[in-house]
Order: sequence, then C-alpha cells, then structure tokens
Amino acid sequence: METVHTDVAILGAGGAGLRAAIALAEADPKLRIALISKVYPMRSHTCAAEGGAAGVIKPDDSLEHHFHDTVAGGDWLSDQDVVEYFIREAPRELVQLEHWGCPWNREPDGSVAVRSFGGMQKQRTWFAADKSGFHILHTLFQTSLKHPSIERFDEFYATELLLDEGRCAGLVAIEMRSGRLVRFDARAVIVAGGGAGRMFPFTTNGAVKTGDGMALAYRAGVPLKDMEFVQYHPTGLPSTGTLLTEACRGEGGVLLNKNGRRFLQDYGMGPETPLGKPVFKTMELGPRDRISQAFWHEQKKGNAVPTQWGDAMLLDMRHLGEKKIDERLPLVRDMSISYMSVDPVTDPVPVRPVVHYMMGGIHTDIRAATPLPGLYAAGECACGSINGANRLGSNSLTELLVFGRRAALSAIEHLQSGAPPASDAALAGGAAAAQARIRELMQRSGGGETVAGLRKEMMQAMEQHAGIYRNGEGLAEACGKLADLRRRYARIELHDRTNVYNTDLLQALELGSMLDCAEAVVASALERRESRGAHQRLDFAARDDAKFLKHSLAWYGGAGAPRIDYAPVSITSSQPGVRDYSGAHA
Ligand code: FUM
Repeated sequence: METVHTDVAILGAGGAGLRAAIALAEADPKLRIALISKVYPMRSHTCAAEGGAAGVIKPDDSLEHHFHDTVAGGDWLSDQDVVEYFIREAPRELVQLEHWGCPWNREPDGSVAVRSFGGMQKQRTWFAADKSGFHILHTLFQTSLKHPSIERFDEFYATELLLDEGRCAGLVAIEMRSGRLVRFDARAVIVAGGGAGRMFPFTTNGAVKTGDGMALAYRAGVPLKDMEFVQYHPTGLPSTGTLLTEACRGEGGVLLNKNGRRFLQDYGMGPETPLGKPVFKTMELGPRDRISQAFWHEQKKGNAVPTQWGDAMLLDMRHLGEKKIDERLPLVRDMSISYMSVDPVTDPVPVRPVVHYMMGGIHTDIRAATPLPGLYAAGECACGSINGANRLGSNSLTELLVFGRRAALSAIEHLQSGAPPASDAALAGGAAAAQARIRELMQRSGGGETVAGLRKEMMQAMEQHAGIYRNGEGLAEACGKLADLRRRYARIELHDRTNVYNTDLLQALELGSMLDCAEAVVASALERRESRGAHQRLDFAARDDAKFLKHSLAWYGGAGAPRIDYAPVSITSSQPGVRDYSGAHA
C-alpha cells in the first residue's frame, strides 16, 4: 500500500477543513499538509449555506448580546467558556474573509451589511445575498491555492483512523478513481467531515453528509456528544427538502397557516409584529426549534396547508417587493420557481420543517481537541459545544471558521510537544486490517441484504421516531430497529466488485457511518428523559436541569449498543433561565 508522509492530515475540504489548512500553511510553510476529501472542495456542503455568518460588528451590538443569544438559544446546554471564545473570535474571522476577497453585502456607506436572524436580538449576520456559503467556500478555496504546502487528495474516501500507543497517527483512504488504498501517516489529524443529516429521508443536506468523520472518530474510541439534538430548519421546500434560507424571514417574510394566520403568535412567539418592520427574537425570528415545533402543532390541529408532497405552511414574501427579493434573495426566488413553480414575488411559497443540522458530534473541547491525543475536529462534525440543544442560524458558518483555525493551532501545539514518531509496524498493521475489511466487504456473497434496502429502513425509523417530537416507546423501537439493521449490515452484498469509482462500495461504507451515527442519536435521545431545545419528548415535556443539565456522551459499542454517559456543562456567567421569545423583552 502506498504511504503518504505528512505532518497534518485534514479530513474534509469544506469550510472547516480549508480554514484549518490555511491556518496551518500560514503558521509554518514547511508543514506538509494533506487535505483529503471525498469530493472536490467546491462540492462540499458549505457551498449550500445561504443566509450568512454571525459576528458582532455594529455599534449597537455587543459580545454580551451574542453570548446571551447563543446560550439561551441553546437552552443552556452550550459550554459557555467555548461560546465566549467563539463570539470573541467571530468578527476577526469574518474580517479575515473580507481581506481574502469574500464579497460581503455592503451598506450604502460602504460598511459591511448585516441582517436579522432567528433568536438574535440584534442584526449581526454578515451575508453575500443568499449565497453566503458559496462565497465563503470559494474565498477559502482560492486562498488555499496560494499555499503550495497544502496537497489535495480530492475524491479520497477515508475508511479508518490509524492509532499507535493511544494516539491518532494517520488514516487510510480509498482513491475513488482507482480503488487503491492509500495510507496517510500524520503526526496529527483534523476531522472536518461535516454532519450526518442524510440518515433522515427529508433533509437540506447534500448527499455527501453521511457522518463519515463522526463515525471514524467514534469507532476509534472518541465519544459522540449530544447526538440527540437534531435541528429541523423550519423552511425547506416540500418537494425536495432544499433550504429556503432563514434570511427570507430576516428580511421580513412571514409564516402563515392555511387560514392565512401568522400562527407563531399562538405559540409564545407573539404578539404579531407589523409587516416590513424589523423584529428580533419573536414571531418569524424566533429560534428554529420553537418554530418547527409550532408547525408540528398546527399540523395536528389541521391548520397545515396540504400540498402534493404533504403538509406545509406558507412563507409569504410578497410585501418585500421584487427589487428587494432580487437583490437579497435571488437564489430563493430561483429555487422556488424551479422546484415549486411558485414565484415569491407574486405568491407565498409552501415550506415545511426539514432536518438541517446536527448540534451533536465528535466530543471536542475549547481547543477543538478530542480526548484522543493527536485528533482534532471542527465544523458540523464536532461538538465543542457552542450550540447546545439548539443552534442559532448563522452561527455555524462562523463556527467552522473559528474552530477550523483553532484545530490547526492545536495541531501545531501537538506537533511541537515532541511526541515520538508512531511505530511503522503499528501503522502498517492498522492499514492492513483496514484493507482486509474492505476486501471482505467487496467479496462478501450470499447475505442477500442491499445497501438501498437497509438505508431506506434506517431513514424511515429515524423519521418516525427521532423527529421534532419523540417519546420513549418510539425511541426504544428505533434502538431495536437500528441494532437489527447493524446486524443485517454484516450481510450486505455489493453488486459492483470493480475498482474504478465503485459507488456501490462507497455507499455501503457511507451507510455504515450513518448507522453508527443514527444509533448514537436514538440511544442518547432515549436516555435523555426531558425536553430541551430540539430534543422534545412527549413523555417528558419539561426541561429538567436537576437531572439533565449535562452533555450526553455516546461510546461506540462495537457489535453491541452504544454506551451512554454524561459530562458536565461549563457555565461561566449565565445560569439556566426561561427562553423568552414572546417579544416582552423588546
Ligand atoms: O437559513 C439559513 O440560511 C441557514 C443558516 C444556518 O443554518 O446557519
């Protein structure tokens, strides 16, 4: 097997991976950096982000406001020391992007423009129309090209982390165009592989988001933290799940039920606010968990709008006018017309909640370090945790910048700590075992299970039992179902046994990652007998700080179920309180 010798291997070349690579290259041009991704960087899911990135920049805003919005938005499950670091670093990162060429929208006086976003008491979301993710990713990608020390391995799928003496020392990946396995020896590894939304059938997530990075760390002995917290974004297109950005509401769009009522006023997010006047932290700018839950209740009451794709609500932007929609929300208009045949300039667009983001992920600390020495994680795959039980929109693009860079700095500290080189025999042994597992999967026959069949059953179980509202009975059923799917996974058969772009093999490996992540979600959700943020239990409807103001940790159980235990939440200055989105504070 070919071996690539590198100092830092980065898994994932989206926003977090690119930001980490640039920080490493800037810190020391002599470092050998391998940037490994299963897709070409510009195809990473960061590209799909629309509304913008949060960071305090205006004189009427403050770091304290950003801190409190984030902590209350997360229902006090965020680690507050990590949030403090995040909000302090956020503006610097966004200005840095500006200097690298990111075309942020401007105010008429030339200063950076910001827009309103859900759960935020001030306008602080920097944006580039409604293509912010595309522009951020493009800016990072073009900046990375200036650094010859960043060697890219596009279309390489990582199958295993390599360990030696209790630390991470590399990984094994398949080169997709040839099928050959490559061993990457690295003194530090940064996982930046994105989320796992594809374990659900209806999601804004691109096909690449199959939790591979999370699963690799999990199998290597790093716990997955707070996996029960799965974010539903309130406004996806019912036909495809494609995101219609929260910026639609940040710019003044409103949500209506089938009677034309702005129903959020009936769910503690009122009173109704005047059209066209900016509102903060109330009505359509309440947090995502609350709005998605309100839709669920409206559906139960029979107030949803029927469409050929199921129940929806209406997102009405007509009062914004064509000029503003074209200037601020051109992609939204384009997608509404393309996928729904509805022009938001003339008609309300049907939308419904859709799985969007994993608050949970690889257990990391304020330094983006995992408990496994030499292994770091950043971006959606990581859980630091700034997002707690519910992320505020536009915090995640900033998060991947802040913690992508932080992971790089921590990796450098690790390199400088003088750890001895990993043993070649240990790495060769790990790589050979990884190769044997792939061979066995490719040659397996007679089992009769298919990737597509198991994937469909997994998605159904997740949608049915781990959605906006859950209960113990359903979650227990999902745990049983996923355990069964894991056993049956050992009997899947590939139909393609060739080497070149074997998507059958890749999808089988991705399914294995999703099954691991899905089991962590339902096992953690079953154990959390309370309702907090995006985790709402019909059988335990109240938040229970006495028992559950703590992070869940799911530990990989191999052939058995995950083991769940807990870690404390770091509280610095904000004691748990009532999440108030009633407008009473205004
Ligand atoms: O609605 C949006 O534009 C999504 C933003 C986010 O998830 O941060």
